[in-house]
Amino acid sequence: MTTTKTILITGFNRGLGRLLLSSYSSVPTTPSSPPLPVHPSGTTRLIIVKLDLNVRTDPAAAVKELAEKHDINTIDVVIANASTGYIWPKVREAEVDDIRAHMETNVFGFVELVKGLLPVLERTAAKKGEGEGEDKEVVWVTIGSGGGWLNNPAAAAVPNAAYGVTKAAQHYLTRKLHDEEPWLTSFSIDPGWVRTEMGNAGARVLGLEEAYGDPEESAKGMLKVFDAATRETHSGKMWTAEGETVLF
Ligand SMILES: NC(=O)c1ccc[n+]([C@@H]2O[C@H](COP(=O)([O-])OP(=O)(O)OC[C@H]3O[C@@H](n4cnc5c(N)ncnc54)[C@H](OP(=O)(O)O)[C@@H]3O)[C@@H](O)[C@H]2O)c1
Repeated sequence: MTTTKTILITGFNRGLGRLLLSSYSSVPTTPSSPPLPVHPSGTTRLIIVKLDLNVRTDPAAAVKELAEKHDINTIDVVIANASTGYIWPKVREAEVDDIRAHMETNVFGFVELVKGLLPVLERTAAKKGEGEGEDKEVVWVTIGSGGGWLNNPAAAAVPNAAYGVTKAAQHYLTRKLHDEEPWLTSFSIDPGWVRTEMGNAGARVLGLEEAYGDPEESAKGMLKVFDAATRETHSGKMWTAEGETVLF
């Protein structure tokens, strides 16, 4: 029996999202690849919809477009990868406008994403519950950050009053999804500090040329975690790309 999975990735056009997409779709990519072909080779169907987290109506509009134009009425896995991170101030130096801008995308946009997608995810879970297949999981993954994880000793030395606070909020909201939606497998994962535009921008704040980690290794590690994820084993927790759970 062939099983088809529908996976929604936000922020797929560069960085980690791009690498995750290429793992699922056989689109050849690197973090800085040129624009995607719309029809990848192989058996994967790639559909691109507009979803700007700063536009409150975009998540629901994307769901509508998927249903009406592409007949996509179920989603098995959401990878909430898109985030902004452009400044890393100490608390005493932080501009409230910068905190607000990070909040707009990473918290308010994230919440609208959840609200736009939960109905279709819940419908997917109900359909899977009726079916005979073994794969009953409907999965919400938040690409979180070690920078928003209070028990991370490595984060203590990094000023992070604008971006870090929003990633901590994402971890919290993802945990609440686990608590509130018993049909959902919901967890956060820290990709590690890797060489993408965002990772390297953070590195420059610390006087380094680039981040330490290899984004391809991170994407590979995260995929292993996604593939193994079940409500019993993974949900409600914070994971690393190495497949370990951490206190957050
Ligand atoms: N790289 C690291 O070291 C690191 C460490 C910890 C956590 N993370 C997390 O990993 C995830 C991916 O980061 P990355 O390193 O791959 O960053 P990146 O290269 O800067 O890519 C960020 C992605 O998010 C999208 N995005 C930004 N604002 C958006 C908005 N308003 N609406 C929709 N999409 C938006 C970007 O789209 P555009 O191209 O259109 O702007 C881009 O696709 C993020 O959640 C980040 O917090 C990264």
